[in-house]
Amino acid sequence: MTGLEKFMGTPPDTTGAAIEVTGLHKSFGDLEVLKGIDITVRRGEVVCVIGPSGSGKSTLLRCVNLLEEPTSGVVRVAGVEVTDPDVDIDGVRRRIGMVFQAFNLFPHLTALGNLTIAQRRVLGRGKAEAEEVARRNLRRVGLTEKEHVYPAQLSGGQQQRVAIARALSMGPELMLFDEPTSALDPELVGDVLAVMRRLADEVTMLVVTHEMSFAREVADRVIFMDAGAVVEEGPPEQVVGEPRHARTRSFLARVLDPAAAEVLEEGSE
Ligand SMILES: Nc1ncnc2c1ncn2[C@@H]1O[C@H](COP(=O)(O)OP(=O)(O)O)[C@@H](O)[C@H]1O
Ligand SMILES: [Mg+2]
Repeated sequence: MTGLEKFMGTPPDTTGAAIEVTGLHKSFGDLEVLKGIDITVRRGEVVCVIGPSGSGKSTLLRCVNLLEEPTSGVVRVAGVEVTDPDVDIDGVRRRIGMVFQAFNLFPHLTALGNLTIAQRRVLGRGKAEAEEVARRNLRRVGLTEKEHVYPAQLSGGQQQRVAIARALSMGPELMLFDEPTSALDPELVGDVLAVMRRLADEVTMLVVTHEMSFAREVADRVIFMDAGAVVEEGPPEQVVGEPRHARTRSFLARVLDPAAAEVLEEGSE
């Protein structure tokens, strides 16, 4: 049995977990970046990961879709162990949509072309079907009228919405977002978050973000990471609203009100 057959032939798991990460460690040389992560994302859930820069959030996401190979630990996606050495990595990645801070659109292709190319090359869809799926997803992100436009003619927010539509066009079982609004001018952030908010009802999402209002309003659960470990997790009203740990509190103070946090820090020197 190939890894892909293994993936596709797996009966629905009873836990309903879209992602199950157990004892995940990742080192780059001597640097241990993930120090034993355990997280579960249930099907249909929206989970936001927050935490300081360098805490390992991107590495965690990259280990879920095997852009990075975990040093040890087990990662399951929809019940299938993707850390199994025999698994078909491409088959796994096909089921996971990923949206990065940088939009990574092909500059020489229109919005429609950006949405159809992987469908055709990777999924083997014909032109008509790929375009139909692409148009449906451009509509989902509110860019129906932009299908013939090239990335350079789109705003950053529109480019990111194209990137989201591109990921959706592959029919993923879950979506990973890595700081999808961090590269955007502030006035463009809202449109991208609005699209993600709508998707939250339909798609399982694991979202690394510094947008605390999004985390508060949209996430079912929030995970706070620091220095390669999960410090606390729970419903947003707890983790963002009434954090238990001092590290979470000081992170939130910095994110929510950088000027005030600076004063606090200067005061404590
Ligand atoms: N490919 C890599 N090689 C070496 N170090 C890396 C690599 N990727 C990430 N790191 C290091 O791992 C740590 C965590 O990085 P990252 O997961 O990007 O954190 P975050 O997304 O929370 O900012 C950082 O110290 C970063 O420099
Ligand atoms: Mg990162």
